[in-house]
Amino acid sequence: MDCLIVDHPLAAARLTTMRDEKTGNAGFRAALSDLTQMLIYEALADAPSVEVTINTPMRAHTGSRLATPPLLVPVLRAGLGMVEQAHAMVPEAHVGFVGIARDEETAQPVPYLESLPEDLSGLPVFVLDPMLATGGSMLHTIELLVARNATDITAVCVVAAPEGVAALEKSGHPCRLVVAAVDEGLDEVNYIVPGLGDAGDRQFGPR
Ligand code: URA
Repeated sequence: MDCLIVDHPLAAARLTTMRDEKTGNAGFRAALSDLTQMLIYEALADAPSVEVTINTPMRAHTGSRLATPPLLVPVLRAGLGMVEQAHAMVPEAHVGFVGIARDEETAQPVPYLESLPEDLSGLPVFVLDPMLATGGSMLHTIELLVARNATDITAVCVVAAPEGVAALEKSGHPCRLVVAAVDEGLDEVNYIVPGLGDAGDRQFGPR
């Protein structure tokens, strides 16, 4: 599996703001939005383009546009904080939704929402979820996408644990990972360390 770690001083600065326990909900959401812009920019660096002819005020000009804008799929709740900025970067993209809660006793994913196009053949899909911890939610989402014929899936995350990266690799699914940092690992309740805490709570407050 391809794994792109977006290693840039601006990405590191926003991630540090997100990690800081002193950052409040609004500051966390702003830093997540900024970082999402950088992650999406990098995730699309090699995306195929098509030529388009337009007229500048001076003369005709051949420019380019994305050949196939990706379907954006935020994983609720935490992925909600990434979708607006991702959509601003790719305004022509369509958006699907997957909702997965986490059973705090077992750390297992509990799916509660699935709103996706029926057929994803030929369509790149960007799954937006800030935290790749055990990989359970991401794998559940990828399985929903593969069942709809997706063959080009990018997991766009802020922080990953090595355990989550290994789970994606082991799954053999057609997937790549774009992430700002791969952290040390998981604690005894499967939170990422050093991580940034619960990315949903940090954006929206506790449930
Ligand atoms: N989900 C989060 O929001 N944070 C973690 O550290 C792990 C999963």
